[in-house]
Amino acid sequence: MCGIVGYTGPRQASRILVEGLKRLEYRGYDSAGIAVPKDATQDEGKTLVVIKKKGKIAELRKAVPKDLPGNFGIGHTRWATHGGVTDANAHPHVDSSGKIAIVHNGIIENYIPLKEMLEKEGAIFRSETDSEVIAHLVAYHYDGDLETALKAALRHLKGTYGIAAVHADEPGRIVGARNGSPLVLGVGDGEMLLASDVTALLTYTTSVVYLNDGEVVSMTPTEFRISDRDDRAVDPEIDLVTWKLDAIEKGGFSTYMEKEIFEQPESIERALTGRMDFEYCSAKLGGLDMSKKELHAIERIRVIAAGTSWHAGLVGCQLMESVARLPGQAELASELRYRNPVVEPNSLYIAASQSGETADTLYAMREIQRRGGSVLGICNVVGSTIARESDGGIYVHSGPEIAVASTKAFTSQLAAFYLLTLSLARLHDMSHHEGERFLTDLKAIPAAVRRSLLLRDSIQEIAKRYARFGDFLFLGRGLLYPIALEGALKLKEISYIHAEGYASGEIKHGPIALISPDTPSVFLVPNDHLREKTISNMKEIKARGGPIIALAEEGDELVASIADDYIPLPKVDTRFQPFVMMPPLQLFAYFCALELGRDIDQPRNLAKSVTVE
Ligand code: M6R
Repeated sequence: MCGIVGYTGPRQASRILVEGLKRLEYRGYDSAGIAVPKDATQDEGKTLVVIKKKGKIAELRKAVPKDLPGNFGIGHTRWATHGGVTDANAHPHVDSSGKIAIVHNGIIENYIPLKEMLEKEGAIFRSETDSEVIAHLVAYHYDGDLETALKAALRHLKGTYGIAAVHADEPGRIVGARNGSPLVLGVGDGEMLLASDVTALLTYTTSVVYLNDGEVVSMTPTEFRISDRDDRAVDPEIDLVTWKLDAIEKGGFSTYMEKEIFEQPESIERALTGRMDFEYCSAKLGGLDMSKKELHAIERIRVIAAGTSWHAGLVGCQLMESVARLPGQAELASELRYRNPVVEPNSLYIAASQSGETADTLYAMREIQRRGGSVLGICNVVGSTIARESDGGIYVHSGPEIAVASTKAFTSQLAAFYLLTLSLARLHDMSHHEGERFLTDLKAIPAAVRRSLLLRDSIQEIAKRYARFGDFLFLGRGLLYPIALEGALKLKEISYIHAEGYASGEIKHGPIALISPDTPSVFLVPNDHLREKTISNMKEIKARGGPIIALAEEGDELVASIADDYIPLPKVDTRFQPFVMMPPLQLFAYFCALELGRDIDQPRNLAKSVTVE
């Protein structure tokens, strides 16, 4: 949610800032801007040039002169919270003198009294944002040192922030602060960068320092210093990012989402690699940081997550119950946090989050920890806040996911839940032989997913015929119910078509009233004892004139004869059907959105990582 980038070094800052913002655009894309010194050299940089534009980074790029001088500066891509989408509300924001510029990610909750106080002091506000108070507060405290002034300003702020600030009179210096919104420092050779996430830094360096909440960094091209708000120095830990630059490129695909859908065989493989233990027919999950005894003592599983990660958690919890015989419950993090939750002993809490930065999930996790619960993280982004603050966890290693709609991270999260289930099942009821069968099936999943992706062209053809419908139902049972929810979410978020996910058995309790020739149903047909029940549900829809698209195992003639369109899926054991159902549903949403000419990677109103509540 909003992206920050800062650069200081020998190169032309404006070019690096705009390029970095392009990489961060998936975090927010309603407006963007940069601030750099006005003069050609850092020594002469006594005023700032601020360029801000409503719209995508492409608009900003057009507005930034190619030869804009200056070799330090800050930039921002916005996802609006306070104040509409206008040039004036775009960041950076400057103080009344125009010498101080700041960019901010997060929400300043007490900005109204601060603004009143600053206006009385003569500050001239030019935007409707909460963020602008930061620029004026820094100016209010400025006495020749930006770091000291920013620290003083922070003492007034209530809320969350990632901030980067520059002062025209301190050429080459950038000061950043973090509280609840991620910031990472890139340590280059004679240059430094600051960004909301590593994708903006990778072109220049793989050496990074993740800032913790309460920390402030002051950097010049050749050195940096991290301290807490009380000015105590913090020893920096330099991490090496293993993501490669080509992982954040489109690699020949027209969108990131299409690329990420097709990466799934490999990304699932990566989630499994080194973790399948055929000797003991279990899973090796070193990151859990728990002894066998501790794992054995677990009596129930509680997953906290949002959106797609919550759907992965729903699958994980059902699997825990049926395979490991442990009761499981997946909860929406945004609900749990404000519910005064009972934290039971012997419960294993799992915070599932692709980005590892989702505010709802992070705060729910902290609430559980505050009450003495242990929380594992199932995250994709290495070094993310949830990954660092959890008590152990599993990285899903799906590689950077840039498209706002989550695809490969979901199936990799599933892989992590399957491994964890196996490992707990093997500590309880599951025999060596059953464990071997489970592992063998799991190992075969990347190949089965690859086969399901071969359906691309036929799904595109189906999507072309259905893209003009205004409402869809996605129906599944058992493990396929969360997949129905996820299929519906994918369709609505990228095509803007209204879609509801339902448990197939529930449609007669209300949603069947929606059925007409204008409301297609997408049925996910399991290949177990629930198949016949699902077929009965299909007939109920058919009898009421509702069009049906059915995804079922290949060779299912009965399903094919009832459905208007049948998508034949590779045969896998029922427990693994979520893996082969999901890619065709992602493709269906993708091709509907393509047909409707939507902005697939950056759908309206959304942002990739939701770092505000
Ligand atoms: O990064 P997280 O997994 O915590 O994100 C949670 C949701 O915001 C996310 O899954 C969202 O629903 C996606 N846009 C779904 O495609």
